[in-house]
Amino acid sequence: MGHFAIAIDGPAGAGKSTIAKLVAKKLNIIYVDTGAMYRAVALYCIENSIDYNSKEEVEKVLDNIDIKITHKDNNQRIILNNKDVTDLIRSTEVSKGSSAVATIYAVRIKMVEIQRNIAKNNSVVMDGRDIGTYVLPNAKIKVFLTASVDERAKRRHKELIEKGIKCDFEQIKKDIEERDKNDSTREFAPLKKADDAVEIDTTKLNIEEVVEKIIELL
Ligand code: C5P
Repeated sequence: MGHFAIAIDGPAGAGKSTIAKLVAKKLNIIYVDTGAMYRAVALYCIENSIDYNSKEEVEKVLDNIDIKITHKDNNQRIILNNKDVTDLIRSTEVSKGSSAVATIYAVRIKMVEIQRNIAKNNSVVMDGRDIGTYVLPNAKIKVFLTASVDERAKRRHKELIEKGIKCDFEQIKKDIEERDKNDSTREFAPLKKADDAVEIDTTKLNIEEVVEKIIELL
C-alpha cells in the first residue's frame, strides 16, 4: 500500500496536536506538527535579534535556517541548525513571532517543501493551517477542527499553567484572537477549511470522541 495522509487544520487551541498525536499513534504512523517549524523560524529570529515582523530581514537570513524533523518514541523533535529546540518553542513570544513569519511567502515555500517531503516518504497525520488546502491537497482525510475562542483560550491557559508557565487568561485570549486574524487574513495559504474537509467543533467533545470520529472517517 502506498503512503497516505490525514490533514488536520484549524485555529490555535482547537486541539489539533492532541488529536493528531493520538490518531497517529492508533494508526501507527507518524505525527507531523507543522506549527513547530514556523515556531523554529521565529525562535531563530528572536535568538539572532532579527525583527520577525520585517519581511526583508527574515528573507535575508532564511538560508541560514536549517530545520529538520525527527521522531523519538512517537514524539516529534524539531531541530534548528542541529540543535533540538522542541522545548524552547512554546513561549508566548515565539507564538507571536511564528504567526508573523508565517505570513512571509518565502518562509512558507521553504516549510512546505520540508512538509511535502516527509509526506512523500511516510504515512502521516499532519496538523497545521493549510495542510488540506495547500500542502497536501490529496490527503485521504481532511479534518477542520474548531472550538469557541473561550474554550481554546481555556485549554491554552491550562496547558501553560501545567507547564509551570505564568500567564494571564485574558491576555491568552487576546493573543489567540490576534493569531486567528493573522492566520485567516494573510494573502498566501490562509487558514481556511478545505471544501472537502470535515468540520468538527470540539467545544463540547472530549478528546476520545474526536479521535473516534476521525478513525470512523477512515
Ligand atoms: O500550530 P501552532 O500554534 O504551533 O502554529 C504556530 C503558528 O504557525 C500559527 O499561528 C500560524 O501562524 C503558523 N502556521 C501556519 N501554517 C501551518 C502551521 C502553523 O501558518 N501549517
